[in-house]
Formats: sequence, structure tokens, C-alpha cells
Amino acid sequence: MGLQDFKASFGNAVAVVSFSDIRIDQISSIEMLNQVADKGLIRLYQEAFADPPYDEKFDDAQVYEIMQEVIQSSGFLFTAMSKESLGQIVAFVASIPLVAKPSVVEFLGERVNPETASYFAEDAVDKNFRRRGISAQMKKILLEANAECGYETMVLRTSADERNVQLPAVLKAGFIPIKDVFQDVMSMKKDGIERPDRRCFFLYDLQALRP
Ligand SMILES: CC(C)(COP(=O)(O)OP(=O)(O)OC[C@H]1O[C@@H](n2cnc3c(N)ncnc32)[C@H](O)[C@@H]1OP(=O)(O)O)[C@@H](O)C(=O)NCCC(=O)NCCS
Repeated sequence: MGLQDFKASFGNAVAVVSFSDIRIDQISSIEMLNQVADKGLIRLYQEAFADPPYDEKFDDAQVYEIMQEVIQSSGFLFTAMSKESLGQIVAFVASIPLVAKPSVVEFLGERVNPETASYFAEDAVDKNFRRRGISAQMKKILLEANAECGYETMVLRTSADERNVQLPAVLKAGFIPIKDVFQDVMSMKKDGIERPDRRCFFLYDLQALRP
């Protein structure tokens, strides 16, 4: 697959950034979401969260709804494609306005002003493409997009399990832990039983990214 095919394989999307053989796009409409849904986005989501520490099970419609909510709430969704993966989606990150996540707003209470905060909703990289800095690059793009949009803070919730490699990843990206605050979140596990797992929180001061 040549570079021209790689560029043409994604309709009218405008690449946000390209590095090595990775191309990152902003998905800003349902039409674009439908295109990436057919290019491995849904499968990637299901596979990334089927592993420990999450062990979660999502059907296609649930994943589509999660992504649809990102677009409809005026959040941000960025996807990455690779020439190596023949134009399949190899990573994504997403954020939504914090007010679109009432369970977190209520839980965090006065620790965060929901009117000026966004919420780091999703982040995953295909197993064959991990540890190449792809998520680090996409986190940076997501943070900058939210800062430019005028948000002051970004809230991130992730598994508190010590196996969670997102913990060192978010610290490296500059997020600050909210100490001693944990939320038990119920989700459908791979064995078909709903169980809680423990999540912890981080904050990023987006004002630090403003010129
Ligand atoms: C978490 C995840 C998105 C990281 O993606 P990635 O592209 O491999 O991450 P990067 O290559 O950008 O790594 C950035 C930093 O994160 C940390 N990190 C990433 N993977 C790690 C691992 N397996 N072990 C230890 N640290 C790790 C390191 O500090 C790394 O920097 P370094 O490589 O310079 O040491 C990916 O592992 C993933 O999709 N996991 C499953 C889904 C998930 O947990 N999503 C987060 C939900 S909140």
C-alpha cells in the first residue's frame, strides 16, 4: 500500500498529524464515525478492554453508542491508522465535556468545577502497536484540543489495579493523581456477570498549555 492509497483510504478526513507510518485523524461527525467503525475501531475497543485489569465485555452496539456520544456531546475523538495495518484503526483517544458524565461530576463534588472541565473518556492502542509512543502522542493532541477549546481542567479516571499500564502512562503525560479518591464502577465482565472494579482519578491543568 503506497502513501497515496493510505491518504485516500480515509475519505474526506484531514490528518491532524502524521509521524513515521502513523496518521492521526479527528473524527468530528457521525459520517466519519461510520467510516472508522468499519475500519476496526469497534473491534479495537472490545479487545483493549477484554484484557485485565478490565475484563469487560461490550457488544458492537454499545461501543458505537459510546463513540456516538463523544461526537454528539461535542467531545473530541482522534483515531490513528497505520500503513502497516493496511488502513485499519490502531489507536483512539476521546474526551467529552465533564458535564456529560454526571456519575463522575456527582462523585468528585467540589474537587472539580464541571463547567470548565472535560473528561478523558477513552484511550486504547492495538497490542501490536503498543510501546511506540502512539498513546503519548494522542494524549498530547487530545489535551491541546481541549485547552484550545477553553477547558481549564481535564479529569481522567482509570483502573486502580497495579497491573494497569495506563497508570505510568498518565503520570508520564503530566497528569496529577487525586490522592485517596477511589470509585467502584460496575461493568459487565467477560463471564457475563456484572462486577465492580476500583478506579482512581487524575487531573491535568489545561491552562498550563495556553500560550
Ligand atoms: C494504556 C495504553 C493506551 C498505552 O498505549 P501505548 O501506545 O503503548 O503507550 P506509549 O507507548 O505512548 O507509552 C507511554 C508511556 O506509558 C508507560 N507505559 C506504556 N506501556 C507500558 C507498559 N506495558 N509497562 C510499563 N509502562 C508502560 C511508559 O511510561 C511509556 O513511556 P516509555 O515507553 O517512554 O517508557 C495501551 O497499553 C492500551 O491500549 N491498554 C489497554 C486499554 C487501556 O488500558 N486503556 C486506558 C483506559 S483508561
